[in-house]
Amino acid sequence: MVRKQKILVTGGTGYIGSHTVVELLAAGFEVIIADSFFNSNKEVLAGIKEITKVETEFIEMDFCNEKSVDQLFEKHPDFDAVIHFAAFKAVGESVANPLLYYKNNLFSLVNLLKKCIISKVDNIIFSSSCTVYGNPDSLPVSENAAIKLAESPYGNTKQIGEEILRDTVKSSDLKVIALRYFNPIGAHDTAAIGELPLGIPNNLVPFITQTAIGLREKITVFGDDYSTPDGSCVRDYIHVVDIAKAHVIACQRLLDQKNKANYEVFNLGTGNGNSVLEVIKTFEKVSGKLLNYMIGNRRAGDVEQVYADTKFANEELGWKAERNLENMLSTAWEWEESISLKK
Ligand code: WQD
Repeated sequence: MVRKQKILVTGGTGYIGSHTVVELLAAGFEVIIADSFFNSNKEVLAGIKEITKVETEFIEMDFCNEKSVDQLFEKHPDFDAVIHFAAFKAVGESVANPLLYYKNNLFSLVNLLKKCIISKVDNIIFSSSCTVYGNPDSLPVSENAAIKLAESPYGNTKQIGEEILRDTVKSSDLKVIALRYFNPIGAHDTAAIGELPLGIPNNLVPFITQTAIGLREKITVFGDDYSTPDGSCVRDYIHVVDIAKAHVIACQRLLDQKNKANYEVFNLGTGNGNSVLEVIKTFEKVSGKLLNYMIGNRRAGDVEQVYADTKFANEELGWKAERNLENMLSTAWEWEESISLKK
């Protein structure tokens, strides 16, 4: 039997990680998930199994612990590639506790890279973010746009993470693709996995679905006096399954040695900008629910509008987002309904 290529997915029970594991298994890879469960839980593994019918090997560990990283690579000395999702991602929390973010997101990356170099695991996909662009000078924003001073320690860990990788490929055999996500939303079509925010959600779509299901009384639109068509902020919302598929393509690109440079960066967005009010209206349409919302003040640190130039990802990576806003919001709603039934 031909050996399947083996992919380590750090943070594989997280929101984007879990959807990526599903797509990797569907594409015929063997997957090893490593996660600390700091921000996710074991039920996600059951969801992955429900969809794929595969019992995925899972290792509970923290990449900040060098010993655990050593043990992981002793057990599995033959990874073909690593997809590194494991990181903290709450912007507000990072402002309140920057050292927690710098330590967790950067020590883990350094530990992982050190071990990859020693073990000759050369192919790495890194979770980056459109936050690296800040308030862009022009739209749509391309990969060559200037990197702006980060708005939060979280955003800064993504910028520094990219710098660490850019420097490390120069002195090693590592090949890296950094994927800059715009605003991932939605859930798997089966509603077996989706986003599981801890506590009160910070992000728009979980707040919308929790309000619609009755967990929150109302949602506040953070500002309607921006210079946008309807005054509310504009973002590039993208289906999490489209994002997951991009990881499989990026991984295959490295494994097939199709990369054009040892460090490459791609935007993962749809290229469409949608306002907060458009998202709310579209949600109401697909769910049949009227949302209790009010207009409030601007949220500190929000950029007015950002959406991706997708040309490079479309043409060079050979990937294009396929799902529209209706589908993103209807899958998010089905997921919210499914978790409310399980409670
Ligand atoms: C979207 C829009 C809010 C909540 C986040 C991360 C960022 C990146 C992408 C990964 C904004 C508005 C929100 C609410 C609202 N992730 N909003 N009422 O801030 O664009 O980016 O995801 O790296 O790091 O910060 O996403 O979902 O919080 O907000 O009006 O209750 O919805 O003002 O315009 P954001 P978001």
